Amino acid sequence: MKILGFETTCDETGISLIEFEENKEIKFKILNHQLRSQVNIHSKYGGIVPILAAREHKKNLPILLKELLKKTKINFDQIDYIAFSYGPGLPPALVEGKEFVIKLSKKYNKKIIPVNHLLAHFYSVLIPENKIGIWQKLKKIKFPAIGLLISGGHTILVYFEDFKKYKKLGETLDDAVGESLDKAARILGLEYPGGPKLEKLAKIGKPLFNLPRPMTLQNNLNFSFSGLKTAFWELVEEVRKYGKLEESKEDLACSYQKAAFETLIIKTKKAIEKYNAKSLIITGGVIANQTLRKMFKKFFNKINIYFPVKELSTDNGINIAFAGYFFIEKAIDPEKLDINPTADI
Ligand code: KG4
Ligand code: ZN
Repeated sequence: MKILGFETTCDETGISLIEFEENKEIKFKILNHQLRSQVNIHSKYGGIVPILAAREHKKNLPILLKELLKKTKINFDQIDYIAFSYGPGLPPALVEGKEFVIKLSKKYNKKIIPVNHLLAHFYSVLIPENKIGIWQKLKKIKFPAIGLLISGGHTILVYFEDFKKYKKLGETLDDAVGESLDKAARILGLEYPGGPKLEKLAKIGKPLFNLPRPMTLQNNLNFSFSGLKTAFWELVEEVRKYGKLEESKEDLACSYQKAAFETLIIKTKKAIEKYNAKSLIITGGVIANQTLRKMFKKFFNKINIYFPVKELSTDNGINIAFAGYFFIEKAIDPEKLDINPTADI
């Protein structure tokens, strides 16, 4: 069984073709994947411009698909399903993706599996390596598990009884943690996306400044990062007033990261204890941060922690084709496909 997956929810155009085989256990092989990031295009605007994202998807989708088919030497007769990430995401970007897959689906008479982008992030931890052309077995996860998705658009805690039975426990009420890192970076004069640049500065700094750990005294499992960003802005202005900004940037970055990551840890701990979880699944672009990984591993050393491999933590087509396999029964005719920019988990 072969599934062709498409990712166009945000600023990455991703396509992948994965083959699955099921006997006593599921085996899969990533036949090829193509990914084009738009980071350079959006960085000069300080954030993602939805209409530009859509234009890039439209331009890149046919190019990437052609490349994938050429590399794999596979034609549409050999492909069983098309998987498409229907949301959440930017409406213009999703529309471009949807139109493209509908055309393909009609032309080649293939059903479409609508894939929830957030769930696809969680499923990606089952992939041991993103090696092309190698049969792999799914990673074994111990349930119940708590899932934490931390990206530029989301900060969500989820309870997984298993991968098919889940419920959302909490989420950010304002900024996502990645967005908050990007904003903090911007306050320090760093370019979008600032998360990785903030990490670099933080590595050579010390957490000398006091910042809040928002909502950690509350028992609910929601987050809020916009107050932390405001507190940071006020702090930076104060330091600037005393003429110490240049020499304090590393320490400021380190203090901000620590506050944001400890907040994530405190809330995650509450969820793990409440649900007696055996595992923690962490996914989303922010887990590229080495400090965060270390902090989580150190703090949650009594339970199993699962991260996706690095390249699969950010948006890509592999995650979509892969998650599609678990929702084949939801495959639909192209006329029925719709996007959902505000889709929940
Ligand atoms: O999952 P993702 O690629 O895109 C979505 O938002 O869906 O996540 C992007 C976010 C950005 O906010 C970016 O700054 C953050 O992940 N990020 C990082 C690092 N690498 C990416 N944040 C902190 N440290 C990093 N090394
Ligand atoms: Zn994503």
